[in-house]
Amino acid sequence: MPLPKAELHLHIEGTLEPELAFELAARNGVALPYAGTDELREAYRFEDLQSFLNLYYELMAVLRTERDFEDLANAYLARAAAQGVRHAEIFFDPQAHLARGVEMGTVVEGLWRALGDSEAAHGVSTRLIMCFLRDESAASAMRTLEAARPYLDRITGVGLDSAEVGHPPVKFREVYEAAAALGLRRVAHAGEEGPPEYITEALDLLGVERIDHGLRCMEDPRLVERLVRERIPLTLCPLSNVRLRTVDVLAAHPLPAMLDAGLLCTVNSDDPAYFGGYAGDNFDAVAAALKLDEERLRELARNSFVASFLEDDEELRAR
Ligand code: ADE
Ligand code: ZN
Repeated sequence: MPLPKAELHLHIEGTLEPELAFELAARNGVALPYAGTDELREAYRFEDLQSFLNLYYELMAVLRTERDFEDLANAYLARAAAQGVRHAEIFFDPQAHLARGVEMGTVVEGLWRALGDSEAAHGVSTRLIMCFLRDESAASAMRTLEAARPYLDRITGVGLDSAEVGHPPVKFREVYEAAAALGLRRVAHAGEEGPPEYITEALDLLGVERIDHGLRCMEDPRLVERLVRERIPLTLCPLSNVRLRTVDVLAAHPLPAMLDAGLLCTVNSDDPAYFGGYAGDNFDAVAAALKLDEERLRELARNSFVASFLEDDEELRAR
């Protein structure tokens, strides 16, 4: 039995497996510039975050209808459940779909068809987190927040993702203020490729409750002290870090040092179809490469529920 866990850093578009990509391409009459799944998998060799994002956005072309988003989410939830995930807080990137003429309602309602009965169908409770693309303008993010207003009963929070360097959190200060005024929870990617200052900015200027990745906090001992003191969770994604070359090899991942420092670390999959593994695979990989004992793994699983947006009673049920 895999350890029960919550997944807090998962881009639903990053769960698009090559087989499903080709199935949806055929269903929607979309031509993919790859001869087949093997050739597509060959393209999964990334130099950095941007080289991954290029493929990630390209493949989204196959996602067109509510049913596509429903199928995508159901495929993820089934895989996650099989790896012990009991609760998933799922990111989606509406701007990448709106830009292709796919409406907010298609995305949210399609995802909701799967998420709405995920507890019954998969034994996985869910939350939906709408991310803004940080390499787009703040005005575009604000328009996206407006477009989401009819669907806010389905959306728990907002996040910030895509190309980090050169797009500091401060750019989205007003958007996050507006999101907070709408009662939305707030998280942001920071310190994946960007400097520790972006983590501080996300906390101070965007009011985030969690930091996605946050790896580079380790370059600033005073920031580490603060994150420990304020119990700010970090949603780490070890296999992602290796594939995007933020960390050379898994055996060199700073996770053990981060746990020793008292940081509230969680282990997640980010974009599992692209990075070689789902939540349980990430747990297994760090356990082996970093020689984590059973107690450490239980700590990571416990942290995932503590850091989640579940209410206390829901959290107890999910564990
Ligand atoms: N979008 C999907 N995966 C991402 C990641 N790891 N970092 C930033 N943006 C992303
Ligand atoms: Zn991410």
